[in-house]
Amino acid sequence: MNRTITGFSKLTKTEKINWLVDTYFTDATSAKSLLKQYWNEDNKLQQLHDEFIENTITNYYLPLGVAPNFLINDRVYAIPMAIEESSVVAAASKAAKFWYDRGGFKTEVISTEKIGQVHFMFSGESSKLEQFFKATKSTFIEDAQPLTKNMEKRGGGILDIKLVNKTQHIDNYYQLHATFETLDAMGANFINSCLEQFSKTLKREAQNFEIFSSEEKNIQVIMSILSNYVPNCLVRAEVSCNIEELTENQDISAQEFAEKFVQAVNIAEIEPYRAVTHNKGIMNGIDAVVLATGNDFRAVEAGVHAYASRTGQYSSLTHAKIEDGIFTFWMEIPLALGTVGGLTKLHPLVKLALELLGEPSAKELMQIVAVAGLAQNFAALRSLTTTGIQEGHMKMHLMNILNQFEATLEEKTKLIAHFKHNTVTHSAVVEAIDNLRH
Ligand code: MEV
Repeated sequence: MNRTITGFSKLTKTEKINWLVDTYFTDATSAKSLLKQYWNEDNKLQQLHDEFIENTITNYYLPLGVAPNFLINDRVYAIPMAIEESSVVAAASKAAKFWYDRGGFKTEVISTEKIGQVHFMFSGESSKLEQFFKATKSTFIEDAQPLTKNMEKRGGGILDIKLVNKTQHIDNYYQLHATFETLDAMGANFINSCLEQFSKTLKREAQNFEIFSSEEKNIQVIMSILSNYVPNCLVRAEVSCNIEELTENQDISAQEFAEKFVQAVNIAEIEPYRAVTHNKGIMNGIDAVVLATGNDFRAVEAGVHAYASRTGQYSSLTHAKIEDGIFTFWMEIPLALGTVGGLTKLHPLVKLALELLGEPSAKELMQIVAVAGLAQNFAALRSLTTTGIQEGHMKMHLMNILNQFEATLEEKTKLIAHFKHNTVTHSAVVEAIDNLRH
């Protein structure tokens, strides 16, 4: 059977679906009805989703949860989280409540600089290129004026452009390395448009630069693109309290807990295998808020992990210490986020999420997202160093298993009560369902 097609994108949605289900599914009817089930009845809303991307055939839902009681710099937030993993929102809520009673989270935006680069080849004397750049630097900024004037009115724009010589790595390779302030916008379109203008200016001005030879005049631009590595777009989040205040669990003293917790962080600082999982837990919180607020979680992920390896070894994003009887746990993390542009005014649930957060500025959102990450890591390390992760995890996972076996409401009530006092494992749940049914 021919499984390829030309002109797929030109088909109507119904034609696309018909072709797909007939070509790839044994039970075309049920595949079709499932796709239809996730379709929005409201045509306008569905059209919005259809037009976000190409070839939309239905919608893919994720739960949108809320973790309330987050005290951040003395203001209370209920944080929206879009995520499928069962224990994440519960863990965030627990950590929020825990720190609410201990002064809350303290945060601070350290810097907000974004980066973009024009990568190009110049076969000539680098001193001549430096001379050229010195003479034309202001032209780059002037030529970009039509693009930057609105951003400048609001206090942002191009911060600087530098010529970088990379010929020790690749013959003839140079960069224009530009920095930007994009205020409440994530800034990808703004930065990429500026960079593409820089590349035009670069090629034009090189042609006109008299001391270049005819070969030198032919600068070859390879590409112009923003960088998702933003080590100078940094936010810090922190919690601290007296060690005695850390007690909650009767089985472990506050001192022992604090020490184990700090050791767990130390381990993630020096052991990459652990650091990756440790940071994954942080990203459980971060991605969920980034996604709920319509930001680009792939960009955030890529930038955060590059930052975690900035010393040459992948390491923990969070740090912890005990000093003079005070337990402190903190994180500094690069987050390029926007609260205007992109999906923010387009996706109705993103608008709702931003309203729930009190229409934050990008700087405020950076702080909220960082807190969600720190809280998630706190919750994970608290479980890992005390009860172990599976207790909480499996309790939350219980509902997934019950749904898998299509448990009725009555069965669910009975089994949830049963597993309040019994360890949840997949086989124990299956056995309990079986006992109940027979
Ligand atoms: C699971 O999604 C995240 C954890 O593995 C994080 C961690 O180990 O710190 C629990």
